[in-house]
Order: sequence, then structure tokens, then C-alpha cells
Amino acid sequence: IREDYDEVSGYVANYVKERINQFQPSAERPFVLGLPTGSSPIGTYKKLVELFKAGELSFKNVVTFNMDEYVGLPRDHPESYHSFMWNHLFKHVDIKPENVHILDGNAPDLDEECKKFEADIARVGGIELFLGGIGPDGHIAFNEPGSSLTSRTRVKTLAYETIIANARFFDGDVSKVPKLALTVGVATVMDAREVCITITGAHKSIALAKCIEEGVNHMWTVSAIQMHPKGLVVCDEDATLEL
Ligand code: GLP
Repeated sequence: IREDYDEVSGYVANYVKERINQFQPSAERPFVLGLPTGSSPIGTYKKLVELFKAGELSFKNVVTFNMDEYVGLPRDHPESYHSFMWNHLFKHVDIKPENVHILDGNAPDLDEECKKFEADIARVGGIELFLGGIGPDGHIAFNEPGSSLTSRTRVKTLAYETIIANARFFDGDVSKVPKLALTVGVATVMDAREVCITITGAHKSIALAKCIEEGVNHMWTVSAIQMHPKGLVVCDEDATLEL
């Protein structure tokens, strides 16, 4: 538990830096990092860019896999997760574009795209550290309430609550929010050797309580982290209201 959003962001960014530097990645043995979008990781990405600029961290031998992407939104749409990742992180650091993996929500065969993503993760030996955030309904990536805890990367219909929550990014207009997304599964995240989830704000306090104080439950998919051998939840004081 850290005081506020800023401290949570600093903590997670430092954690990532230490993990990457301890690993001593090389071209033959890159560090594989899973990444989220949303407003939660913006502070972390800002601090990672600062660490890169200060010469404390390099992404040269880091391979990334993003959690999810909207279906049907053009790749260069300002709210696509492609745009988000390049604007907030990738264009500011030394990552090689060929090391970036983001699901293509405009692929002609979406099921094939999801299979390819899982195969790409397997090809590089799995994900070392998966960073994540959650929705107020406890979803991780776009694994909405009711998603199987053994789910893999697939097409998912967004819950109405998520569409409402994400309307703020689309001029507050729910009709502009895509209704489908491609998302890694709960099991795809849990297969990572380490999982770090950021939860901030009072509006996520019920989800945090469900995540760590109640049973593992597919209606609060983030609760699967309880079963992970190396799971870390980093939250701010506001998120602890219901603990
Ligand atoms: C979307 C993303 C999730 C993210 C969630 C929370 O639903 N698919 O990966 O965790 O938003 O967003 P925010 O951090 O803006 O609250």
C-alpha cells in the first residue's frame, strides 16, 4: 500500500527497472514484459521514460506483449491501444518495433490473430513479468465478470459497465465505444512468472477487497492472482477503503 497514485506509479516503475536490470537481458535472452493500458499505468510509463532518459534502464532487449485491443477501431485512432502504447511509452524509449506485440483488432481472422498471439508468447519462452490494472468490476485485461479463469487470448464482448467506464475516452458517448475486444485470457496472465497489478482510487475499493479478501471467483477475475506463486498488488490508500 502506497500513499497515492504518484507513489504507486514510482514503486511499480522502479520494480520493473530492477527486474529488467537484474535479468541482464540480451538479444538471445530478452526480458519479456506484459503491459496494460488504461489510465492506471500512465504514471508508471511516465516514470519508466524518466528512468530511460536518466540512463538507468534500456528497452533494447525487452520484448513486450500488450493485454488487449479494441475490435474494429483503426490502429491510428487516438484511443486505440496501439496509439496509447506508442504515445505513452514506446516512442520515448529504445524499444525495437519488432519486439512490440499488440493484438490487431482489424485482423481479417480474429480467432487466428488470438492463436498467433499465444504462439508468439510461447515462442519467446513465456512472459517474465505481466503488469496489469483492473476495471471497477474487477476485470483484468478485458476478462469481464464470468470469464473462465482458464481462458486464453480470444474475442470478448465488453460488459456494459466497461463500456460506460470507457466512454470517458470517447467524448463521453457510449455509442462510440467499441463493443468487442481482443484480450489475453486470465490464464495467459497467470502463466507469467510474475504478475503485478496496480489498483488505485476509491472507485476500485470493492474490487480490491474482492480480489484479495474473498474467494477466487470468476465474477471478479483479478481474484485469480491469489493462486499465483508470485503475485503482487500495488494499491493506494484510497483503494483500501473496503479492506
Ligand atoms: C480497460 C483495460 C484494462 C484496464 C481497465 C482499467 O478495461 N482493458 O486492462 O485495467 O481499462 O482502466 P483504468 O486504469 O483507466 O481505470
